[in-house]
Amino acid sequence: MQRRSIIEPFKIKIVEPLPRRSVAERERILEAAGWNLFNVHAADVTFDLLTDSGTTAMSAAQWGAMMVADESYAGSRSFYRFEEVVRRITGYDHVIPTHQGRAAEHLLFSLHVRAGDHVPSNNHFDTTRANLEQLGAIAVDLVCAEGKDPTVDHPFKGNVDVGRLEAFLVEYSGSVPFVMTTITNNTGGGQPVSLANLRAVSALCRRFRVPFLLDACRFAENAWFIKVREPGQTGRDVREIARDMFDLADGCLVSAKKDGLVNIGGFIALRGGTWVQDLRSRLILTEGFPTYGGLAARDLEAIAVGLDEVLDEAYLEYRAGVTSYLADGLGRAGVPTMRPPGGHAVYIDARALLPHIPPAEFPAQAFAVECYRAEGIRSCEIGSVMFGKQPDGTFVPAAMELVRFAIPRRVYTQAHFDYMLEGITEIVDRRTELRGLKIVDEPPFLRHFTARFAPV
Ligand code: F0G
Repeated sequence: MQRRSIIEPFKIKIVEPLPRRSVAERERILEAAGWNLFNVHAADVTFDLLTDSGTTAMSAAQWGAMMVADESYAGSRSFYRFEEVVRRITGYDHVIPTHQGRAAEHLLFSLHVRAGDHVPSNNHFDTTRANLEQLGAIAVDLVCAEGKDPTVDHPFKGNVDVGRLEAFLVEYSGSVPFVMTTITNNTGGGQPVSLANLRAVSALCRRFRVPFLLDACRFAENAWFIKVREPGQTGRDVREIARDMFDLADGCLVSAKKDGLVNIGGFIALRGGTWVQDLRSRLILTEGFPTYGGLAARDLEAIAVGLDEVLDEAYLEYRAGVTSYLADGLGRAGVPTMRPPGGHAVYIDARALLPHIPPAEFPAQAFAVECYRAEGIRSCEIGSVMFGKQPDGTFVPAAMELVRFAIPRRVYTQAHFDYMLEGITEIVDRRTELRGLKIVDEPPFLRHFTARFAPV
């Protein structure tokens, strides 16, 4: 029988108190924070859904492994354990640890991307895009048409538009250092990419002799969606599916802060050795010796355990169950969300929810701010604050005005989600009272992290 409750597939061994503040306190906090939720102290947030990155609750096995880590500068036993796990899961021989995902991006791009290069992906994540653009390269998003429409229900909205990719590879022949695909596609709503699509991208890359790299932070969630959604994949072990994905590419960049189930860490893993020596030399310059790469050995141990735990199917079923529970609950409250729900987050379509707030007044930021003011829930705008400013400084509204409710792994229970849903329902009932925001101060890059706002 189908049960209504999501059973968390773990017992809780360590707990921490949930911060509570009054609405009046949060109003003062918002004003001091310039209405930017990145500026709010975590101690003033009750439910922190800002990101699923680095916010995982680690397991007893991970904490135990950290205690036996070998903190030697060179040749640490913990590195070889980490390397063995990454090799076994990905099939890639060359494993380069970094302190997090964007360090892996910066390292690889600074060696293999030149000004004027064109780098396609389904959607580049914002740090990926910024790391390419600051080198003078052009980051291009080629997600399929379904991926741009929040209302279409399609099983693999993270898929690359293969026809456009082929035309792109013809047009920019000679200036494409590699093709990327983000699994799952965070910027496009945490949507998965099918094996069939990865196969098609891989075949194009081989035909055009261009390396194919996965941005694989959420590889396990992507593999789970392939298992439950792609024809012919249902009975397969999710580990085999993950391996099939990696087999189609030449390497991956990974922020272990997601499906590594850890609070810090990342890596580059590559099938072939041609780039490895340069990467390791540069790693020593910027991150650390090749057997720790900016991490403590205890972090490498925690990642090694986490990468195996994340492929447990009971965990992945629960993980996908939580996201759809939140999305379905929001749907009942009348909140339009991106369909189907993604792996790590639920995305609210603020343009549809708040049609009275124009893109230039940031409807998604306005909704995120109200969820914090009224309920202490911290979420993240993914709309015109994040993407509306062009490299030349002009404003072009983002394709979508989304609010991301990202779900930390193994942190909140079903009762927490029920409580949040009650609060959000109350906000939705008085949504016509919500007002937009204007930016009063912003930096040149990645403005959403530090910009300050004021109510319109
Ligand atoms: N690629 C993707 C797809 C990501 O989602 C992130 C981070 C990165 C790369 C960069 O990794 O944070 O370890 O440097 N995403 C976080 C988020 C920040 O909230 O979505 P990092």
